[in-house]
Amino acid sequence: MEICNLKLLNFRNYESLEIKFSPTTNIIYGQNGMGKTNIIEAIYMLALTKTFRLGNDNVVIKKGKNIAKIEGLIKDNILNTYKIIINDTGKRIKIDNNKISKVSDYITKINVVLFNPDDLKIIKDTPMTRRKLLNIEISGLKKEYVIYLNNYNKILKQRNAYLKALNKKSLGSSDFLNILTEELVTTGLKIMSIREEFINNINKYISDIYYEITKKGTLSLKYKSEFKGKTKDQLLKLYAKNISREIIMGKTLFGPQHDDVEFIVNNEVVKVYSSMGEQKNSVIAFKLAEIKNITHTLNRKPILILDDLFSELDQEKINNIINLIDIDVQTFITTTEIDFVNKDLLAKSTIFHVINGTVKEEKTYGK
Ligand SMILES: Nc1ncnc2c1ncn2[C@@H]1O[C@H](COP(=O)(O)OP(=O)(O)OP(=O)(O)O)[C@@H](O)[C@H]1O
Ligand SMILES: [Mg+2]
Repeated sequence: MEICNLKLLNFRNYESLEIKFSPTTNIIYGQNGMGKTNIIEAIYMLALTKTFRLGNDNVVIKKGKNIAKIEGLIKDNILNTYKIIINDTGKRIKIDNNKISKVSDYITKINVVLFNPDDLKIIKDTPMTRRKLLNIEISGLKKEYVIYLNNYNKILKQRNAYLKALNKKSLGSSDFLNILTEELVTTGLKIMSIREEFINNINKYISDIYYEITKKGTLSLKYKSEFKGKTKDQLLKLYAKNISREIIMGKTLFGPQHDDVEFIVNNEVVKVYSSMGEQKNSVIAFKLAEIKNITHTLNRKPILILDDLFSELDQEKINNIINLIDIDVQTFITTTEIDFVNKDLLAKSTIFHVINGTVKEEKTYGK
């Protein structure tokens, strides 16, 4: 699939912008703070309805304005116009001017794979960051996942509140708690199995990709979950055995809310001392594996966005990454260092120069 054009109104530092993109490689260059990431953020938000940056949705509204719009023409066999309108009270989403009320119906339609420098924290941050990554990536692949996840979080909240209440005073019968535990286990198992399947699929591709980038070593992901490899009965017994501990602590002690994913390079968990470049290679390998997984699972190619691809990496790794990108995948690359971009890549790309909230297309770089 591809985004053919993008229109922005009062989005970040753009008052009004309209650009046509190439179906192959788009290079967006300019100095720091000019608005490169803002463009790709708009594409990401058009796909997923949320920003990947910190803050609420309304932080994207241009300072001093009260409404922002993102509109894009998306080609995926047929052409559709997607639109997001954001104001201080919320956002509206539309496809071909028809209002969409369920976000889960919308976010599986445009598939975007994004690498952003913030993703480097995936490896060393707390497990919560990696669970968030799993949730975002799987949400774009499987509609029902979002529904299971929302249900699970609701049950978990209710169960925790009930355990806290039991802590204060005994409520006699344990029927209600048993119902909550059963629901928690049933929904938790569904989430666990979708996450496990996702990691298994990524593992089909990631090691070869990592090798192509680094020309040495292996990379795989290890999914860690307290529910993994257990049946419903085994889990119910586990909860039964620990019930008094749960009541004392006033919270649920097991479940996918503790899941984690380990990045394993050369059979070792990627350690705290790995360099930024090494971490970047692992995260980019993960993102490129996702492209293969999406292509295989949904039978369509996602849009690839590589924000600030060139920093932290040596020329050889950059070339290896570029060579791995399928020509059929519409790609966006942002950089401050256009002079470092490989000449062959420049020759086959459409180039955009960003200067303070304005964008100029350059047919040939430097001319
Ligand atoms: N809501 C907003 N309204 C107006 N301007 C904003 C808003 N949010 C961010 N900006 C401005 O957008 C600019 C940053 O744009 P962006 O992050 O796209 O830069 P960049 O070109 O990617 O820079 P870098 O090379 O440092 O990554 C900053 O000048 C910032 O002040
Ligand atoms: Mg940027």
